[in-house]
Amino acid sequence: MLIIKKLPKLKYIIKEFHKKNKSIALVPTMGNLHDGHLKLVSEARKNSDILVVSIFINPMQFSDNNDLLTYPRTLNEDYKKLKKHHVDLVFVPKSTEIYPNGLKNQTYVNVPILSSFLKDMYCPIHFQGVTTIVSKLFNLIQPNMAYFGEKDFQQLVIIRKMIIDMNFSIDVIGIPTVRNKDGLALSSRNIHLNPQELKLATNLNKIMNYIAYQLVNKKLNINQITTQAKEMLLNKGLKPDGLAICDEITLDKLTIQSRNAAILIAAKIGNTRLIDYQKVIL
Ligand code: PAF
Repeated sequence: MLIIKKLPKLKYIIKEFHKKNKSIALVPTMGNLHDGHLKLVSEARKNSDILVVSIFINPMQFSDNNDLLTYPRTLNEDYKKLKKHHVDLVFVPKSTEIYPNGLKNQTYVNVPILSSFLKDMYCPIHFQGVTTIVSKLFNLIQPNMAYFGEKDFQQLVIIRKMIIDMNFSIDVIGIPTVRNKDGLALSSRNIHLNPQELKLATNLNKIMNYIAYQLVNKKLNINQITTQAKEMLLNKGLKPDGLAICDEITLDKLTIQSRNAAILIAAKIGNTRLIDYQKVIL
């Protein structure tokens, strides 16, 4: 497994892969790899000649400096896991390699409308950071396909739109969320939770299931469901920090034409913000 930190070496190797007509799959990550990431890796492994995983904690997508500083860093363990999964190349650049002129003096890629929907889930600037780094990785690695988790559903929808609008010839594959035995979505942020908080966190998925049930049964309207769900979160010791029940394609309000709904939910336990997603067939 090659571990590459510098751009010139990466570009040289990628060129060689392309000369040999190898298909390349990319799994972009911020490290601290758990079974959710490894699911993406093993799916990508099945479908490509060359499997590239990037590990880069992208400062541009963090609005809270403390969140950036405390983001878990576990490079050596990550390498071991990736080696076991037969990854060919790990790209681990420093921030100065990716943003040599700093974050402010950098061209941005922005998907404005989809990024500013669901404002209480994420601030739009977060997604500008994501789309900028993902485009840079696409240009550097030139993959044929790229794998993302469905848990970050808004991110996935935005990246799909960016691919179309910017004419990237890349297949984006969304992979369903991996959960622990109690239904909690795996996340690098779970590491910040103590055993009691981990138990509380399982309510996020339970409440999402309740919302899905209400949507399918159509007894309550969206406002009523949202109010109830927020109350349920508070009663379980979780601080609601974003709840959207929307069309899974437009991320806008559900309409008669909506085939599927997306439930996006965010809640805080202490200082840790957790998110989750569920699709509902209407
Ligand atoms: O989902 C993530 O881990 C990040 O947002 C990504 C896609 C690796 C971009 O930094």
